[in-house]
Amino acid sequence: MSYLAGVDLVGGYGGADILNGCTIAVERGQIAVIVGPNGAGKSTAMKAMLGLLQLRTGQVVLDGEDITALSPQARVAKGIGFVPQTSNIFTGMTVEENLQMGAYLRTDDITPTIEQCYELFPILRDKRKQAAGELSGGQRQQVAVARAMMTEPSVLMLDEPTAGVSPIVMDELFDRIIEVGRTGVAIVMVEQNARQALQIADQAYVLVSGENRHTGSGEELLADANVRKSFLGG
Ligand SMILES: Nc1ncnc2c1ncn2[C@@H]1O[C@H](COP(=O)(O)OP(=O)(O)OP(=O)(O)O)[C@@H](O)[C@H]1O
Ligand SMILES: [Mg+2]
Repeated sequence: MSYLAGVDLVGGYGGADILNGCTIAVERGQIAVIVGPNGAGKSTAMKAMLGLLQLRTGQVVLDGEDITALSPQARVAKGIGFVPQTSNIFTGMTVEENLQMGAYLRTDDITPTIEQCYELFPILRDKRKQAAGELSGGQRQQVAVARAMMTEPSVLMLDEPTAGVSPIVMDELFDRIIEVGRTGVAIVMVEQNARQALQIADQAYVLVSGENRHTGSGEELLADANVRKSFLGG
């Protein structure tokens, strides 16, 4: 069994089901990427793994433990970090206050973790006293990822971390995410930049209508003619 797995997930927001049996799994130290068309249920699948969605059927398993019934807060306490697609920083607070907020569940000394975040994202050290809302798009995404790192997660779930940033900033963010993965964190990432994301994916999922359409290593999906034609523009 994988370190984190959402297995045969079925559920939605009260109306018709959005997730129709999809399975997403990730190992520690690896990057799993979820791609697929708008409305496919990528964000919904992530919310289900975090516990923000009532599942009709299916299980979420973390390190061998069934966590399907746990609240989102309990899952965060167990090591799941989450960067949502929107509203993922406190714009009126400084960068450093955002990091402190990220550690709200902790009672120990968070100074070393803040220092680690600044080592990973040096620009955030320079901007630490500035309101996060005044930062560029790429810098804000760094704040969002760093905030999620403040709980010292064993799993980091990122919903479109490179949304709205330039290709250069995207490459930089991917490099940082790879670095986080190398520390042993399991990373699940939804990405609109499918081709680039598949290039760094150990495991990759193409979701369509809440179902697994294609599954394999990033390399395998990049080489798959059907995936290329339907999801990568040829
Ligand atoms: N809070 C909500 N309440 C009701 N329906 C929702 C809610 N959030 C999403 N949906 C619906 O669920 C479906 C899947 O949405 P979801 O956000 O998971 O897609 P996505 O694959 O992340 O798309 P995108 O690439 O645009 O981010 C869509 O039809 C959407 O309208
Ligand atoms: Mg989404």
